[in-house]
Amino acid sequence: MKHYVYITRKLPEETIADLTELFDVKMWDHEDVPAPREVILKEAEKASALITMLSDKVDEEVLSAGENLKVIANLAVGFDNIDLEAATRRGIIVTNTPDVLTETTADLTFALLMASARRIVEAAEYIKAGKWGGWSPYLLAGHDVYGKKIGIVGMGKIGEAVARRAKGFGMEILYHNRSRKPEAEKELGAVYSSFEDLVTKSDFVVSLAPLTPETKNLFTADVFTKMKKSAIFINAGRGPVVDEQALYDALKDGEIAGAGLDVFEKEPISAEHPLLQLPNVTAIPHIGSASTETRTTMIKLCSTNVKAVLTGDNPKTIVNKEVL
Ligand code: GLV
Ligand code: GLV
Repeated sequence: MKHYVYITRKLPEETIADLTELFDVKMWDHEDVPAPREVILKEAEKASALITMLSDKVDEEVLSAGENLKVIANLAVGFDNIDLEAATRRGIIVTNTPDVLTETTADLTFALLMASARRIVEAAEYIKAGKWGGWSPYLLAGHDVYGKKIGIVGMGKIGEAVARRAKGFGMEILYHNRSRKPEAEKELGAVYSSFEDLVTKSDFVVSLAPLTPETKNLFTADVFTKMKKSAIFINAGRGPVVDEQALYDALKDGEIAGAGLDVFEKEPISAEHPLLQLPNVTAIPHIGSASTETRTTMIKLCSTNVKAVLTGDNPKTIVNKEVL
């Protein structure tokens, strides 16, 4: 019997040709809505492999639904949507898509920083709304980026790629991470800081931290109070590392100057979300790695990983190596 592979989102046929050649492949068929949980549970019963999105909760129930499940290929570098411990206990391989999205995500993170600092989105909305009455000295005046201090929380590959961009902008670079990064310190002059020091001193506080029990709600009201009143907070990692109510209050009360957000506690958010009512918030819908090239590369990496596991090879980018 051919292996059955289920993909929880509609993907271009050519990106999964590797799989359709060898296996029985089915995709969720609707462009703009995610596969409902009942569908994923039902498909998991038959599947040897699932290709999942970061918005799919892959918990014990999904992992235990099928006898045949050998691999979960998550279309993301993050894998906080997957119960890794449960997968590992069941001998199910979990793969992610690191490296291929590093530069693309760093581009977006820096774009969000620039847009927030210089109020690009607000300015674009202003001119399209016909509000431009004429040039004036402080019209839509923002904050400088060049020469300022950036503090990067979560110095993984993406963090380092953001730091390289910051260096090009003459920025002083602070970082906080579980482990020291001697290379980044040497090449970029990045300075390791305590979390408290970083949030206190930085002009731009950039979170790229993965979501773990340690990082959940890392950015509390207390943390925003410690930031400079002129600080801009950027989150391109995971939403739940931030207490959103505290962020809202800090922005509204002028504890910090602005925020650029690609991720939120609960996604998708609606237009009525309090953060979207604030003029000093630049919000975008979790598009960090969303260039056409990179998304295609990510999908192909998922396919390669699934094919490897189902044909008895090791996948390229495994998260739980202990399963092998
Ligand atoms: C996106 O957020 C990812 O984890 O790839
Ligand atoms: C991983 O989390 C990375 O930053 O590449």
